[in-house]
Amino acid sequence: MNREKVVVLTGAGVSAESGIKTFRDAGGLWEGHDVMEVASPEGWRKDKELVLDFYNQRRRQLKEVEPNDAHFALKDLELKYKVVVVTQNIDNLHERGGSSKVVHLHGELNKVRSTVDPSLIYEWNDDLNLGDKCEKGSQLRPHIVWFGEAVPMMDRALLEIASAQHVIIIGTSMQVYPAAGLVGYAPRNASIYYVDPRPSINAELSIRDNLEVFAENAGTGVRKVVEILLK
Ligand code: APR
Repeated sequence: MNREKVVVLTGAGVSAESGIKTFRDAGGLWEGHDVMEVASPEGWRKDKELVLDFYNQRRRQLKEVEPNDAHFALKDLELKYKVVVVTQNIDNLHERGGSSKVVHLHGELNKVRSTVDPSLIYEWNDDLNLGDKCEKGSQLRPHIVWFGEAVPMMDRALLEIASAQHVIIIGTSMQVYPAAGLVGYAPRNASIYYVDPRPSINAELSIRDNLEVFAENAGTGVRKVVEILLK
C-alpha cells in the first residue's frame, strides 16, 4: 500500500508542556540570555565558556524532562502514514516520544562537532568543556545552527515537504526563516493544520485555502489533528 505522507513542522511550543521554555514568549530572552550572546558565531568568539555553559545547562535540563502528549500523538500517526517530523528544536523529545523520522533544522543538543572539520560530529550526552577536542585537535562546539549560519538540513526538509499530502505545524511563531518559509513548498492541494495558542499567519500561510487553525496548546490540539487524520 502506498501510504500518504504527513510532514510535521514543529517549534519550541511543542516542547513547552514538557517544561522547556519557548524563545519569544520570554520577551526576547532565552533562559535569561540575549540569544545573540549564546547562539551566534560572534557570541562564541567572544566568550566560549559562557556559550558552553549555556548549552551544558540545556543538555542537563533535557535529562529531567519528558515528552508530552503532543509528541506521543505524533507517534500514533505512523500507524497510517509516512511521517517526517521537521523540527526547529534542538531537544530530543520527538525521538523519545517515538517518532521514527526526525529532521533537526537547527541542530541537536546531544551532538557536538569539530571547529575545523564540520563533518566530524559526535554523540554527546554530558557537559562539553573548554579543552574537549576532536580527533584533529580542535575545540569541540555544540552541534547547533546559530544565527547567521547555514541550515544544512534545509535541502532534506524541502524534499520531504514537496511530496507531502498533509502538513501539521505546531508551536512555532513562524518568524525565523528559512524554517518559516518551508510550508510554502508544500503542494497546493496539501491540507495544512496549525496548532498554536497564539498562531501567527505569515505570508506563506496567508495564501493557503485549506488551512485549519487550532488556537490551543499542543497537548490537546495535536491529538485532535491526529484523530482527524486517522479517521
Ligand atoms: N503549545 C503549542 N504552542 C505553544 C505553547 C503550547 N503549550 N506555548 C507556546 N506556544 C507557541 C507560542 O505561541 C509561539 O507561537 O510556541 C511558539 C514559540 O515561538 P518561538 O519562541 O518563536 O519559537 P520558534 O518558532 O520555535 O523559534 C524558532 O528561533 O530562536 C530561534 O533557533 C531558535 O529554533 C528557534 C527559532
